[in-house]
Amino acid sequence: MSSVFKVPVGDRTWQRRTGGSPGHPTPAADEPVRDCRGPGIIAGILAPHPPQLLYAENPSQNEPTSEGGWEVLRWAYEDLRRRIREMEPDVIVLHAPHWITMVGHHVNCVPNPKGFSVEPIFPHLLRYRYDFRTDVELAEAIADQASDDGLVTRKMRNEGVRVDYATITALHLLNPDWDIPVVSLSANNNPYFYSTSSLDQMEILGESARKAIEGLGRRAIVAGSNSLSHLHWERELGLPEDMTYEHAYNHHQYRWDMRLLDLIRAGRTRELREMIPEHIQQTESETKAGSLSWMLSALGWPEDVGEVLTYGTVIGTGNAVCLWDMRGRQ
Ligand SMILES: [Fe+2]
Repeated sequence: MSSVFKVPVGDRTWQRRTGGSPGHPTPAADEPVRDCRGPGIIAGILAPHPPQLLYAENPSQNEPTSEGGWEVLRWAYEDLRRRIREMEPDVIVLHAPHWITMVGHHVNCVPNPKGFSVEPIFPHLLRYRYDFRTDVELAEAIADQASDDGLVTRKMRNEGVRVDYATITALHLLNPDWDIPVVSLSANNNPYFYSTSSLDQMEILGESARKAIEGLGRRAIVAGSNSLSHLHWERELGLPEDMTYEHAYNHHQYRWDMRLLDLIRAGRTRELREMIPEHIQQTESETKAGSLSWMLSALGWPEDVGEVLTYGTVIGTGNAVCLWDMRGRQ
């Protein structure tokens, strides 16, 4: 594993060395440093990606069809989509756990990812034809910044590499029209290979993303795609969308999810940061992949902000749709 160092949250010294992109030339030595933070990050989102939610929506891109199901979670996404529209973002930057890279943090720099994404465990639910645009300039800037910040980083430029179902599901639920450019980040498994709660690198990667977004003046939404508690049923007992089978896996998981969501609703983000590793240990939370920590680090762990739009279970796992509206707070 690479050695990394940590950049203090709020550090702005990077602004003196960004600007290598064509639209943002590096200032001359005697020129005052331009404040190029621009609109910055306007919102953070916790956007879980169970394939059942996309299956239940019956979009034309997905082959399987359903009778619905998991409506309350899907209604929350519907409300969220309306709010995203109002925010008019330039880009959605997404960290999701199923583009797994064992060496380093990869950033998808392919301009127009296009292909067929299949959920390997639930291929009868998700076989989705995708076609979207990458904000390549921002993708490259995040990779460069993360490398500068000491992380092993790679720009993924391989046309035709299949985009994982978590990235596709979360992005579809956030913007089914696919008319907002995207930056997709991999989930490096190395940080938690020996420990389920080693999230330091994800926090550095979040800070790197923020620096790159502000450096290019993007109006960005950052989305971490994690479920919460993650023990789940091993067998499908009937029709997947039969909601009579749907409930929390156990009381212990449910209570720990509620403790975490109480902190989000109260805007007590410092306490939330401390609690995430314990929540992982108690519930096998999918947040061990780092997407939630990445997203909140990109926001700078803001206090007194945070909404839980809904919570619901999918095959027993806990899933919350949450929003941190940062407008006026940058
Ligand atoms: Fe997942």
